[in-house]
Amino acid sequence: MDPAMRVLHVASEAAPFAKTGGLADVLGALPPALAKLGHEVAVVLPRYRGVVLPRSRIWDALPVHVGPHLFLAGIDEVVRQGVRYLFVDIPALYDRAGIYYDSTGDYPDNHIRFAALAQAAVAIARYIFRPDIFHAHDWQAGLVPLYLREHFAGDPTFFGSRCVFTIHNMGYRGNFPASAIPDLSLDPALANPSGLGVDGGVSFLKAGVVWSDAITTVSPTYAREIQVDPLLAPHAAKLTGILNGADYDEWSPETDWRIAARYSADDLSNKRECKLALLRELGLPPDPGSPVIGIISRLAYQKGMELVVEVAPWLARHEVSLVALGSGDAALETEFRGLASAHPSKIAVRIGYHEMLAHRVEAGADMFLMPSRYEPCGLNQMYSLRYGTLPIVRATGGLADTVAPETGFLFRDYSAEALASAVGAALEAYRDRDDWTKRMLLAMSKDFSWNASAREFDRLYRRVSGA
Ligand code: ADP
Ligand code: GLC
Repeated sequence: MDPAMRVLHVASEAAPFAKTGGLADVLGALPPALAKLGHEVAVVLPRYRGVVLPRSRIWDALPVHVGPHLFLAGIDEVVRQGVRYLFVDIPALYDRAGIYYDSTGDYPDNHIRFAALAQAAVAIARYIFRPDIFHAHDWQAGLVPLYLREHFAGDPTFFGSRCVFTIHNMGYRGNFPASAIPDLSLDPALANPSGLGVDGGVSFLKAGVVWSDAITTVSPTYAREIQVDPLLAPHAAKLTGILNGADYDEWSPETDWRIAARYSADDLSNKRECKLALLRELGLPPDPGSPVIGIISRLAYQKGMELVVEVAPWLARHEVSLVALGSGDAALETEFRGLASAHPSKIAVRIGYHEMLAHRVEAGADMFLMPSRYEPCGLNQMYSLRYGTLPIVRATGGLADTVAPETGFLFRDYSAEALASAVGAALEAYRDRDDWTKRMLLAMSKDFSWNASAREFDRLYRRVSGA
């Protein structure tokens, strides 16, 4: 076997500990997949209020310097699926109601909170887990490569270590005004346009882009879409797209204990039970004959939910019902609640974050709708394929890379008309029951497991290490 490497991931979320979206799913599954390949893998995360751990303290007061601030971090460790999850416990920064924001908005010290995460990761690398590869994810970990190269360039501890930076979403750049710089242990000269400077302030995402040895994003199509972005273009030679995987230990109808009844490609009959149970749970008429469209989504600009609001009245006139689970933008939450009250026998909406219900929607719906404006990868469409719940998606980013006309329904234009026409095609196809079953079986047979992606990361790590 090729020699194992030591890989230290740094991120702001990982399932099952802390999750707001797909980033957490990735950090819950990619590190174990790398461990299975024989690597030694650890993940650094903030210890948020919601993270409940058994007695797990391995380090009492790790000094974390950020600008004028000194924090003494406790480090807690949980070993899960062969991976060391290391939690940075700084209550002044992380023991709060939310992960990034509360009801009053983004936390005003987010730059300090995530600069501290990066500094803690470097301190962990020095004292607790010395990596060959630092693998930082999204803007929240963007300062890791910068601190490493700018502050520790001459430190023999880190000779030979390399930094990989993965962009899960270019829509969130960690931009802060120039007034944040004194808080960050940064030479202000680095905040120029070829450094992490953006519009007179700084971007943590840009720090990750500029100072890393290699950049990845989460699908080949999204890599092509973002390489022309002015922030990324000068560094596009370092960029590759590696498609995310789906964690089938969590998301498989054969084994999913959260759904009403288990089913598989060999015996689909229980999917009907799941559908009836979902309709009952959400208070819709239990009519198994007409199709159910599911939505599970952050209600954010990215996700194209305005289009759903626009087509809902059209939808309500057809033989179909819609179940939507989501939370986020307050105006969209109100609009979605409005749809459910206007069409109580056709549309059911749950606002909030419900892990269990998300599984029951995947299992109980016939179709899954993701009309994203842009989508770096998207995981729910992959889960839907596995549950035989055919995706209706806009052909963008990772949606275009994972859904084919044989396994789902794609549309190109970002418009209500294009969306309605794809839904129309799905409703038409649903009428031919034999053909629909064939499509379901084909969708369920697609394999997007993490093995292939983990191997691609393995190759990338070796390439940047010169191994
Ligand atoms: P993104 O990361 O952009 O939100 P993904 O499709 O990659 O999109 O991943 C979303 C993940 O978050 C999935 O695991 C999905 O089931 C979950 N999710 C999103 N919204 C909710 C919600 N309201 N309740 C439960 N799970 C949700
Ligand atoms: C981001 C993207 C989503 C992707 C996820 C995991 O949240 O919006 O498309 O699947 O990260 O990489």
